[in-house]
Amino acid sequence: MDSETKLPKPEHIAIIMDGNGRWAKNKNLPRASGHHAGVKTLRKLIEHAVAQRLSAMTVYAFSRENWQRPEKEVDLLMELFMTALKSEVEDLQKNNVRLKFIGDKTAFSDKLQKIISDSETLTSENSGLSLNIAANYSGRWDITQAFQSISGDITSGKLSATDINEGLISERMSSAEYKEPDLFIRTGGEQRISNYFLWQLAYTELYFTDVLWPDFSTEQFGIALDWFANRQRRFGKTSEQIENNNNN
Ligand code: IPE
Ligand code: IPE
Ligand code: MG
Repeated sequence: MDSETKLPKPEHIAIIMDGNGRWAKNKNLPRASGHHAGVKTLRKLIEHAVAQRLSAMTVYAFSRENWQRPEKEVDLLMELFMTALKSEVEDLQKNNVRLKFIGDKTAFSDKLQKIISDSETLTSENSGLSLNIAANYSGRWDITQAFQSISGDITSGKLSATDINEGLISERMSSAEYKEPDLFIRTGGEQRISNYFLWQLAYTELYFTDVLWPDFSTEQFGIALDWFANRQRRFGKTSEQIENNNNN
């Protein structure tokens, strides 16, 4: 099937890239090899997303809970973020990709924070794929910081409590500039959200696959897009209403 021309494309795809450790273990390799292979998979997927003219993709690279991993693994992941960013940013720039990070960046080393802000600045004017990296992110953190931001405005008199509504909360979420994800993909076999986008996934189509992240090919991605194209998104309405394209 020609997924580029015929099927509706999700405007924003949220991905949990899970299974690097198990991929390595299955091959009797250290977990580090799994993370390196995972970066290669992400690179291929970004190229593919650019070629397919997808508009936005947010990938979960590091959760707030991931700090609890062994120090050696956390250090390796931080190192990998730095080297991957440094080596890929020129290509992202050439491919008109706009790179953004969501999450609490203050926990990262000054060096990593600088690489992140330089890469965001370099690519900020690009109009192609919006690539968001969720790093030191969690859904509950995001909701909490949104509430802190709103309550700050209430304290200073800019807003009153009666101004709080769903729209305002959405505007204060770290992903505010993007449409809520249409499609969520989690590789690695687990069927859970792991504190990813909690507010934003309210009506997202959820796709789970057993394929481990390093094995997630562009073909696998195509299967997920085809699956998405065959969902009927009802948003509370009946099938008949959707099929007749009316509200009665
Ligand atoms: C996902 O793969 C990468 C990160 C969480 C950074 P995992 O490292 O969680 O792989 P598994 O789940 O142990 O296989
Ligand atoms: C989720 O994967 C976070 C990322 C992929 C960055 P985990 O492997 O940390 O998820 P849990 O803890 O098994 O749910
Ligand atoms: Mg995992």
